[in-house]
Amino acid sequence: MEYSEKVMEHFMNPRNVGEIKDADGVGEVGNPVCGDLMTMYIRVKDDVITDIKFKTFGCGAAIATSSMVTELVKDKTIKEALSITNKDVVDELDGLPPIKMHCSLLAEEGIKAAIEDYRKRKDKKDSRNQRFEIEN
Ligand code: FES
Repeated sequence: MEYSEKVMEHFMNPRNVGEIKDADGVGEVGNPVCGDLMTMYIRVKDDVITDIKFKTFGCGAAIATSSMVTELVKDKTIKEALSITNKDVVDELDGLPPIKMHCSLLAEEGIKAAIEDYRKRKDKKDSRNQRFEIEN
């Protein structure tokens, strides 16, 4: 099985590894094929993802795709981030062996789950603020 140089490089030196304390959104996803896990943390300001970190308990391809997706999504708007697919991530890494394509799904799903969590928290906060305004 051949990995591209970019995959190897991101696997050996993954970017944005770690956790954001008090993140605005956290996404936890698992790969049903192999059971590997990923957690993605985002910080959002004015609809832009200003910071992102991840923790992946998985194979080399999962780590490389996690790393690459954090680079693709950083400083993008929520809308732009949602349009990034696992295929975009794989293309950016100059490809993955076909048998490892499923690993790249974690990256796309991790971002989507973190954004969904961010939106849920924001809706809750907005409705709390609205209630406060009505009551006062
Ligand atoms: S083998 Fe599980 S994500 Fe790659």
